[in-house]
Amino acid sequence: MKKLTIILAHGNYAKSIANKTIIEQLKTKYPDATIRNITELYPDFNIDIEAEQKNLMEADVVLLQFPVYWYNMPAILKQWMDKALAYGFAYGENGDKLKGKTLIASITAGGRMEAYTPIGSMHFYLRPFFSNIESTAYYCQMDFAEPILGYGNIYIPNVVNTPEVVTERATEQADRLIKVLEELLK
Ligand SMILES: Cc1cc2nc3c(=O)[nH]c(=O)nc-3n(C[C@H](O)[C@H](O)[C@H](O)COP(=O)(O)O)c2cc1C
Repeated sequence: MKKLTIILAHGNYAKSIANKTIIEQLKTKYPDATIRNITELYPDFNIDIEAEQKNLMEADVVLLQFPVYWYNMPAILKQWMDKALAYGFAYGENGDKLKGKTLIASITAGGRMEAYTPIGSMHFYLRPFFSNIESTAYYCQMDFAEPILGYGNIYIPNVVNTPEVVTERATEQADRLIKVLEELLK
């Protein structure tokens, strides 16, 4: 079977419900997958480029797991991309180390789909962002798999949702993600 690596980026993983639920399911399903919790590994944003590149080289499928922050990815994930996907490694002269691998993102959004009316779908708002990830994959000669998105994951005690509701939604997202991964990892 092909090898999975998970790049986990979360501003406050200790308080996470959705991403933690998804990660726990992935751990159970893919015990051999490597998980790089880059927020915890790099609290000072000082990415170990060599370690990250080595991990990427050993993987066939690279999963980016993170919550939406301001219609975008958490800053640590952008920093990781800026540093790990370097010239001579991911692109440019001899920069073919990621060629043929697959990039997929699994993203949790706080907002409910209905909350984004009249346009009706948060995909509309996230389209430029998805497009950035797709372009990145293309530039690194990677295959791009359609992102897996889950809505309505924000939990604010006594205001929005309950932990149980978020857990249920995240579990459903993890199920969808695993279905896609099953194909990608064949
Ligand atoms: C700094 C910050 C910015 C956020 N921006 C958005 C946003 O633009 N759109 C959205 O739907 N949710 C937004 N959220 C909500 C998070 O995406 C949501 O709480 C998270 O996906 C829940 O996952 P977790 O339980 O793993 O933390 C934001 C949250 C934070 C902390």
